[in-house]
Amino acid sequence: MTYEGWITACEEEDIEEEDVIRFDYGDRTFAIYRSAKNEYFATDGYCTHEKFHLADGLVMGNHIECPKHNGRFDYTTGEAKRAPVCQALKTYPLKQESGLIWIRIN
Ligand code: FES
Repeated sequence: MTYEGWITACEEEDIEEEDVIRFDYGDRTFAIYRSAKNEYFATDGYCTHEKFHLADGLVMGNHIECPKHNGRFDYTTGEAKRAPVCQALKTYPLKQESGLIWIRIN
């Protein structure tokens, strides 16, 4: 489903608190996060160090830890927080509407 450039990624309840899920769209992959404060965020799905899915990693507070080499990012800003990652993640706007999570990926 699309709406003025926004794409439905999932339902709010698809993501547990302090967790992350993978969302694929075409040939792109994203990670959708739900914080302990029930806020939702989205980043590129692959780690910037090597091409591993961050959705397989561990959410700790505002950080996502990559499952491959334990590099960390702040998923609210995309900022690289722990080596070996040094390049930030791209982040995407999200909105909640009628129980759905929408992402703008342009
Ligand atoms: S692939 Fe993510 S830290 Fe190496």
